[in-house]
Amino acid sequence: TRVLRTTFIGTDIRYYESVGSTNWAAKKLCLEGDPQSLNGTVVVAEEQTGGFGRLGRAWASPQGGIWASVILTPKLPVDSLFMLMMAASIAVARAIRRKYDLGALIKWPNDVYIGDRKAAGLLLELSADGDDIHYCLLGIGIDANVDVSQLSPDLQRKVTSIRTELGHEIDRASLLASVLREFESRYMILESGEYEPILREWKSLSLTLDNRVSIRTVRRSFEGTAIDIDQHGALIIRKDNGRIEKVVAGDCAHL
Ligand code: BTN
Repeated sequence: TRVLRTTFIGTDIRYYESVGSTNWAAKKLCLEGDPQSLNGTVVVAEEQTGGFGRLGRAWASPQGGIWASVILTPKLPVDSLFMLMMAASIAVARAIRRKYDLGALIKWPNDVYIGDRKAAGLLLELSADGDDIHYCLLGIGIDANVDVSQLSPDLQRKVTSIRTELGHEIDRASLLASVLREFESRYMILESGEYEPILREWKSLSLTLDNRVSIRTVRRSFEGTAIDIDQHGALIIRKDNGRIEKVVAGDCAHL
């Protein structure tokens, strides 16, 4: 299409009115077909009835949002896949900043915030055999035109949408096209073996770095200052006693 100025991502778009989860629909395509030939295929839906997020949490996906999954067969080592997430979060933040002049930033590990509210989330599911990647499913959820006042009271306190921020609806196809374009260029940088520029850009858009945070992992909770992130996506925290901790997976609240 004309809005979509990408080389391979989104040249094949599968559209659904309603689907359980675009990640499931994408997975089904991969199981039924050859993932290699689906590289870059995008599944989008107007609504999801079983949308999910990180740690298997439910993800509210009403009409008005952008709910999409990109099938990828990246030529990247499995241990650098967090860089894909970084490229995707950067893409969403950049697209929102460029198109609407909103100050979108990335909260570790992979949320896009506008102000102190979440506006988008990213999810990466992997099918691999050791170091052999069969496919990755990159889920992108953006509360584009979501009417936040229709969400649960709990979500209303934490979530915003672009429509809420701007006071009017946006063209979702055009935002998705920008996101995919911003993502594709960074994806290619990663596939060429260059991680440093992506890591640097992620840091420059980070809401988390240099902030005091409270961390909760399955095993422990602690507070400290987020001082860095490594290329595997681990957050580096300096605790008040000076000790340095590395957090690979968990929740991070800003203090
Ligand atoms: C998170 O913040 O925990 C990640 C949320 C990811 C949501 C997207 S919406 C499209 C795709 N389909 C899903 O069921 N989840 C992802």
